[in-house]
Formats: sequence, structure tokens, C-alpha cells
Amino acid sequence: MQTLFRSEQGGHEQVVLCQDRRSGLKAVIAIHSTALGPALGGTRFHAYADHSLPEEAATLDALNLARGMSYKNAMAGLEHGGGKAVIIGDPDVLKSEELLLAYGRFISSLGGRYVTACDVGTYVQDMDVVARECRWTTGRSPENGGAGDSSVLTSFGVFQGMRASAQRLWGAPTLRGRTVGVAGVGKVGRLLVDLLIEDGAEVVVTDVRGESVDRVRASHPQVTVAASTEALIRTEGLDVYAPCALGGALDDATVPVLTAKAVCGAANNQLAHPGVEKDLADRGILYAPDYVVNAGGVIQVADELNGFDFARAKEKATKIYDTTLEIFERAAGDGVPPAVAADRIAEQRMAAARG
Ligand SMILES: NC(=O)c1ccc[n+]([C@@H]2O[C@H](COP(=O)([O-])OP(=O)(O)OC[C@H]3O[C@@H](n4cnc5c(N)ncnc54)[C@H](O)[C@@H]3O)[C@@H](O)[C@H]2O)c1
Repeated sequence: MQTLFRSEQGGHEQVVLCQDRRSGLKAVIAIHSTALGPALGGTRFHAYADHSLPEEAATLDALNLARGMSYKNAMAGLEHGGGKAVIIGDPDVLKSEELLLAYGRFISSLGGRYVTACDVGTYVQDMDVVARECRWTTGRSPENGGAGDSSVLTSFGVFQGMRASAQRLWGAPTLRGRTVGVAGVGKVGRLLVDLLIEDGAEVVVTDVRGESVDRVRASHPQVTVAASTEALIRTEGLDVYAPCALGGALDDATVPVLTAKAVCGAANNQLAHPGVEKDLADRGILYAPDYVVNAGGVIQVADELNGFDFARAKEKATKIYDTTLEIFERAAGDGVPPAVAADRIAEQRMAAARG
């Protein structure tokens, strides 16, 4: 596990391996940084079944995800560092009340250095169970003092990032009269379409699940449907592409054929590999960094720790507009792509907090 101690690959503060034989719990909790405050990040529940060493794959995943949370939280202006946890196993087989309670006790043993939330494979009702053993739990249901579904402010934050992109490209913070392609109309994408239509945009959507598309079309019959993501990104006249499905949406195959002038979406880890941010910039495509514009969800859950107040959290998520503009300005000033500028600003914030 050499990566842990190499600062250029992470420089994490702490990694905890947890095992509870009774419930079958095996988990990794990775704390990247507490410079800005307690590490905050969700719990992924995943089997890593296609890896020969699932424990190692899970640990690497936790390390990478925790590091990403440090940057996301710093750019969101939160008083939180970055952390992430992974429970190893198939959630459909292994998840039980006993396991989640044992997991909560492990987080509690860290005394508040790590605050958890939902991620892939964990849900609001799971966090309600974890919270019975651990006060450092967010992403709970409203009945249990939580913020509930985080996609509300995630979509709102992406919309703010898109408004900032429009301001930078066309001189006005609106998508009115622009054509926006949304790939993936699940929880976040669907709400983003609502905001775009309200703002006066033309919207094209695509999704591998027919029912997701039907749901959007039922509310907004004027929305156009593309047959696939490949078709959507080639649509003539597309102004903005919003990847809202899986990671890796921007790669060597997609970037050369994008017709959009801007990319701004909710999906995590949109850049498939280092260098894609430069390919976008070379084509004159404005990229709003994913972890900046999709921070509305973490802003929402962080607010739970102070007794959830939707209006307060929304006000904070509104600032994603200013942050995105600041990144574009820094990128232009430093002569680097926006993704590099965002990393620089986040690193400066963490360094300043360390003193
Ligand atoms: N929910 C949040 O608060 C939040 C916060 C930050 C980031 N994100 C990220 O945003 C993205 C969307 O999250 P979500 O909560 O809406 O998930 P979701 O599962 O509700 O929706 C994803 C949608 O994408 C569709 N999809 C999957 N593969 C596709 C493909 N190849 N082409 C087109 N559509 C495809 C799915 O059918 C589904 O409708 C994810 O990458 C997630 O990690 C979500």
C-alpha cells in the first residue's frame, strides 16, 4: 500500500480497516485530509467481484475517492476535509441491520474525524440505521433529522455551473434559447431538465432506460430524444453537453466529435484520463469541472450537521455559480484548462488552512 505515503498520489492522513465477523462487515475508511475540518464523504457498498484482490481494489478506490472529496469539499467552501468509506461485498446479499450498526460503531470510534453519507450502494434508509450508532452520519431521512434526497441540490448546483458557463461564453447567465443535451435522466438529470426548461432552454435527452425518458417526456413533451449518448453528443447545434449518467464520459473517442461548446454535468469523474482536459481546451470547449458543479449534494448533507435548513443549503449551492466563474477566470489567467485551475484553487485552500 505504498500509494498511501506518496504525497503525489494522495498523502492521506489515515486509513482504517474494519472487520466484524458476526455480521460479515469488511470495510475501509480512508481519511485524506482534515485540514479544513472533519473528513466528509459517502459510503460505497460494492463487491469488487471482478478483481482478484477485492480488499486491495476497495482500498485503492477508497483512497482515490477520499482524495477527490478533499478537493470537492474545499471548492464547495465547506469546513470539511475529504474522506470516503467502502464496505466490501454485494449489498443485495450482505447488507443487514446488524452490519450497518457495526459499521456505525467503527465510524464512531474515529470520534468525528470522519463523517459519512450515502454513495453508490447505500441509501437514506441505510444511513438512518448507521446513525443509531453514530452521530457523525448524514444523508438521513427527513424524519430522522436528515436532508433526504441529495439530487435536489446536486441538480441545482449543476444548473448554477451551467449558468456560469453561459456567462463566460455568451455574456449572459442564462440558457434561454440554447440547446442543452442531457445524457442520463435519472434522479439528477431529470431535475436538471426541469430547471433548464424553466430557464427557456431547448433540451435533448438520452438514457439507456426507456422509463427514465418517458418520465421526462410526460412532464415536458417538447423535449427531444436522442437514440444514444453517441448520437446526442453529435447533435448539430448543441450548445451544452451535460453528462449525468456514469463516469468517463469524456475520452479519446467522445471529445473529438462533441458539437457542444461547453460541458457541464453531474456525473463524477467525467475525464477518462489525465490529458482529456487539455484536449477539450484545445478544441475550444469550455469544461466546468465535475466535482465543482456537482457539489450541491455534499453541500446539502453537510448542512445536516447543523440541523438541516434547506434555504441555507440552497444559498450555499447558489455560490457554485461564482466558484465556476472564478475557475474560468483563473484558467484564462494561468493559461491552463479549468480542471487544472480548480485543482490549484482547492490545493491553495487546503494549504492555507494547514497554515
Ligand atoms: N445524486 C446525487 O446527489 C449526486 C451527487 C454528485 C454526483 N452525482 C453523480 O451524478 C450522476 C447521476 O446520478 P443520479 O443520482 O442521477 O443517478 P441515477 O442512477 O438516478 O441516474 C443515472 C441515469 O443514467 C442512466 N444511464 C446509465 N448509463 C447510461 C448510458 N450509458 N447512457 C445514458 N444513460 C445512462 C440510467 O439509466 C439512469 O437513468 C452519477 O454519476 C452520480 O455519481 C450524483
